[in-house]
Amino acid sequence: MEIKKVGIVGAGQMGNGIAHVFALAGYDVVVNDISQEALDKAVATITRNLDRQVSREKITAEKRDTALARITTTLQLEDLGQTDLVIEAATEREDVKNAIFERLLPHLKPETILTSNTSSISITRLASRTDRPEKFMGFHFMNPVPVMQLVELIRGIATDEATYHTLLKVVENLGKTAASAEDFPAFIVNRILMPMINEAVYTLYEGVGSVKSIDESMKLGANHPMGPLELADFIGLDTCLAIMNVLHDGLADTKYRPCPLLTKYVEAGWLGRKTQRGFYDYRGETPVPTR
Ligand SMILES: NC(=O)c1ccc[n+]([C@@H]2O[C@H](COP(=O)([O-])OP(=O)(O)OC[C@H]3O[C@@H](n4cnc5c(N)ncnc54)[C@H](O)[C@@H]3O)[C@@H](O)[C@H]2O)c1
Repeated sequence: MEIKKVGIVGAGQMGNGIAHVFALAGYDVVVNDISQEALDKAVATITRNLDRQVSREKITAEKRDTALARITTTLQLEDLGQTDLVIEAATEREDVKNAIFERLLPHLKPETILTSNTSSISITRLASRTDRPEKFMGFHFMNPVPVMQLVELIRGIATDEATYHTLLKVVENLGKTAASAEDFPAFIVNRILMPMINEAVYTLYEGVGSVKSIDESMKLGANHPMGPLELADFIGLDTCLAIMNVLHDGLADTKYRPCPLLTKYVEAGWLGRKTQRGFYDYRGETPVPTR
């Protein structure tokens, strides 16, 4: 099946990045959100990020203008009815995602492929609530979408080969690289990354190292571009904790238990960069370790 028109539900951090890369690759894009403010902010962010690509000579001004002209926004979910592919990128709550699919389904063409950008919710379970589990997949982009090369493709138990191959082709058209993952908690990237971040927090909690020594050790000793605690602050400590809980509950193995210090930071509202404080304090000129 050929994909020409793409619908995106949720215009947050991920939704705007996904709209950006699809429009640049030549797809028509309709973005839906329940908040007009989120839609306006998404268009402003996309414009700013495209402008940056023009100033760095990664794309031409003409390409920026055609990409922007391909994006429309709407508060009406039914405006996504004529799309060939829907990417749900709304808030990470299963009830929210189920309600979106339920409201959208009566308006969709029978052949439209449905996907979710969820970081952790079971694709098989989300798909089972729709009328097309064979045309349902996990389509997991990485943050920030315009910069990150990888896209995880997650097949639910019922996903058919045609749907999988259509999405492989779409990833290729975006100029990105697909990794296929089976539908188990946190898929591949977060299954490996989050326990490492959680272990870094345990290393801090047990006093083996300070924030600075842990991050420096992994940057200089393992050649990681960012230290694990710096990276946790970038992702959001609430998100890290939520994913550890999904691993812990879903795989029922104590090796995934979230570090109590991670829980404490989240309870304090120290969620990382987005709240200006996490393992580092970002309120001054340069980030200062909090331990
Ligand atoms: N942040 C990340 O690093 C990251 C990475 C990969 C995947 N994800 C996944 O992407 C999804 C979105 O995450 P985000 O970081 O962009 O969140 P976000 O909070 O930035 O954006 C979510 C958006 O969804 C909108 N929304 C909520 N309910 C809606 C509804 N019923 N209909 C339409 N829009 C609705 C909100 O208004 C908001 O604009 C989540 O499933 C998350 O797990 C996030």
